Amino acid sequence: MSSAKTTRRHPRFSTPWAVRLRAPDWADALQLATGNISRGGLFVRCEQPIPVGTRLQVVLSLPEEMTLTVEGEVVHAISPERARAEGMAPGIGIRFDESAAIDLNLLEGMAASNSAGQYAAPIAEDQYLSWSAVLADGAGSEHTTTAYKLLETPAIAPGEQADGDAELTFAPDEPTPPDASKTRDLSREPIFGIDFGTTFTSIAVVERGRVRVLAEGNQTSLPSVVCYPDEGPPLVGWPAREQIAHQPSTTIISPKRLIGRRFRDPGLATYLASSPVRFLEGPAGQVLLEVYGEQLSVEQVGAEIFQRVASIGEAASMCPVRRVVLSAPVSYTDERQALRRSAELAGLEVVGFIDEPVSAALAFGMNVERGATVAVYDFGGGTFDFTLLKMTGHGTCEVIGEAGDPWLGGDDFDHAIACHAAEQFRDRHGVDLRERKVEWQRLLFAAQNAKRKLSVEKSVELQVRAILLSLRGPIDLYLLLDRELLGELCGKLVERSFAAVELCLELAELTPAQIDHVVLTGGTSRSPLVRARAQQFFGKEITVNYDPELGVVSGNALFGQILRSR
Ligand SMILES: Nc1ncnc2c1ncn2[C@@H]1O[C@H](COP(=O)(O)OP(=O)(O)OP(=O)(O)O)[C@@H](O)[C@H]1O
Ligand SMILES: [Mg+2]
Repeated sequence: MSSAKTTRRHPRFSTPWAVRLRAPDWADALQLATGNISRGGLFVRCEQPIPVGTRLQVVLSLPEEMTLTVEGEVVHAISPERARAEGMAPGIGIRFDESAAIDLNLLEGMAASNSAGQYAAPIAEDQYLSWSAVLADGAGSEHTTTAYKLLETPAIAPGEQADGDAELTFAPDEPTPPDASKTRDLSREPIFGIDFGTTFTSIAVVERGRVRVLAEGNQTSLPSVVCYPDEGPPLVGWPAREQIAHQPSTTIISPKRLIGRRFRDPGLATYLASSPVRFLEGPAGQVLLEVYGEQLSVEQVGAEIFQRVASIGEAASMCPVRRVVLSAPVSYTDERQALRRSAELAGLEVVGFIDEPVSAALAFGMNVERGATVAVYDFGGGTFDFTLLKMTGHGTCEVIGEAGDPWLGGDDFDHAIACHAAEQFRDRHGVDLRERKVEWQRLLFAAQNAKRKLSVEKSVELQVRAILLSLRGPIDLYLLLDRELLGELCGKLVERSFAAVELCLELAELTPAQIDHVVLTGGTSRSPLVRARAQQFFGKEITVNYDPELGVVSGNALFGQILRSR
């Protein structure tokens, strides 16, 4: 990024004043840049009166030793006397020159791509965005102070001088409560990103320049499960998941597998036949399911999940969730329309769709050179997708290859571990837990927990207390699982994913060495097995976010923010 400008819009000024700000990391820089501070500006606290109309340079020190210098003007001044009388902060409001907009937009793009993977902690409503700053006057003296981002656009026409403070809504000492009437103005409402995953669904939004994944309690993901009890409203998410073993015929898991698919789709035959839920063919050839004699579309089931995740988003963000960005695997065609209908049934407006790998790339900060080839390896709970992207400049890219396995995911790891434990248990106690629905479900949950722990620890104890009741008392299940055993049980699943990777590379006529950046996403890519194999296969540094299952939802939220600011 160029720092010094050679052509200035106001050459007559020798910039006697300067404000220097430091954004120590990209997330900070993003907060500085988003909302385009050129439209808002900065408020710099200072005791010394500086007249309206004074020209200033604002020097932003950015990560990686970059500096951006933009120029602006004092458009508003609050003297210390007035500040004391009115309970405000003394200081000056600075509006940037219009010519700064391009640089600030570039900064915004660069900062967004560099900091997106950092999930922000919730910021309290009364917390203003502020940075420590240095204010230097022309005489050479410097004062350490604080600069705040202006919350609103000052309603001042270019060239016009502000005389009152009605135009500026900034008041650092007295935060104004959010104006309820403004939240009804659609263009001001945030656009939320929803990742409707096969196993988990999540929601995120960009708040004050950072992606915030919205959680219920400490859960950032909602199981994509809906249970229709014989009475009362459907259960969605965690309570529905608990019913998988108890109400198998009315508990629908992974509706994403079925959405927009044809009942006669050969790829679905085994799944439909083996499911305890009763599926039937709808008049248009779609998949319907029957619950207590009533026919439901898969979209209706999905809508329950959309509605639930939207209510989680609303509660956590305190904003209505109406406009959303959704994502889908590259291979989805008709399924996208079905996903859209499902979200609409939940009362949401789908303002954008983005391919899941592109979204993951956006979230992981694809600040890579034009022409670079990026591989996104997405190993989720139910599906595996591998995508090759060619970066076409300024954060845009083109999909140049895609392969995957719609029936390969982290659930298969749980299954393989649970099968091994069940076989050992059968050899010792003569009972096959796979034939007992409730016990098998408990074992699958325990296997998933053990698998997750094993991503951090070298070995874990898989334990299910009183999994069987015998005449001699309850019998516990116990298995010592270490990474070597995990490799024996699940290594072939990882190899299946790499078979798809090899096929994709072959079709794109590329070798692993020709890939410039590798991004691992999806919860299963937390597994040490996957990471080690990817490292070995690509023979280079790979990017794994510390929350890989939240990459897509974060990218969706970022895309929502981009659409919102257009
Ligand atoms: N620490 C971990 N180690 C291994 N696997 C993990 C870990 N954490 C989560 N997983 C697995 O990641 C999977 C969920 O990942 P994710 O949320 O990305 O999937 P999804 O988006 O619902 O599915 P899909 O992308 O297939 O539609 C689950 O199988 C879960 O067990
Ligand atoms: Mg996913």
